[in-house]
Amino acid sequence: MNVGVLVSGTGTNLQALLDADLGAARVAVVVSNRPGVAALDRATAAGVPAVVVPHGAYGDDRAAFEDAVLAVLAQHGVLPGGAVVLAGFMRILTPRFVDRFPLRIVNTHPSLLPAFPGANAVADALAHGVKVTGATVHFVDGTLDGGPIIAQAAVPVLPGDDAAALHARILCEEHRMLPAAVRSLAAGELLCQGRHVIRRGSGAE
Ligand code: GAR
Repeated sequence: MNVGVLVSGTGTNLQALLDADLGAARVAVVVSNRPGVAALDRATAAGVPAVVVPHGAYGDDRAAFEDAVLAVLAQHGVLPGGAVVLAGFMRILTPRFVDRFPLRIVNTHPSLLPAFPGANAVADALAHGVKVTGATVHFVDGTLDGGPIIAQAAVPVLPGDDAAALHARILCEEHRMLPAAVRSLAAGELLCQGRHVIRRGSGAE
């Protein structure tokens, strides 16, 4: 299964994917909407094509930006039946894009969804005063951080935590769950029944 990974920044989740045994999945291309980010260097170092599709060049034309991303994915063999992983990708995808890969787009998010969706989840959780937050790996649907949940892990908020310290511990959970989810998806182990994602062989199906 060819996987396209969309990134916007540091790329530690991408690194976790590159370092993992993904089984039947392989990272075929990395696409960044921002030039010069560390994630691109990580891809290149791993011998994976790294392509920039700068969203700024498309102004407000989301459809044109997404078409350009879809074209890069297709050029690298990431077609419907493959998968797209959002690994710190900080753009919202429209239903037009999402519908091309139904239940084949996986996102990682640094909170226990549905709490704290959006771009500032760690800071939002800290500001809210929660005692426990965490990480969520989920399928992407047409809603903001709202698709069916594949895996979650709780992370306690410790006294004196700032956003960086808390985020570092959340990232450890993301780095564990995201490759496992991609491997399971490629193995055909993830069954979706409405909002409920069931792992084939878990006895729950
Ligand atoms: C990760 O914590 C990811 O969950 C988050 O950005 C970070 C990227 O780190 N994504 C979002 O907040 C999306 N709403 P990375 O670039 O080191 O993988």
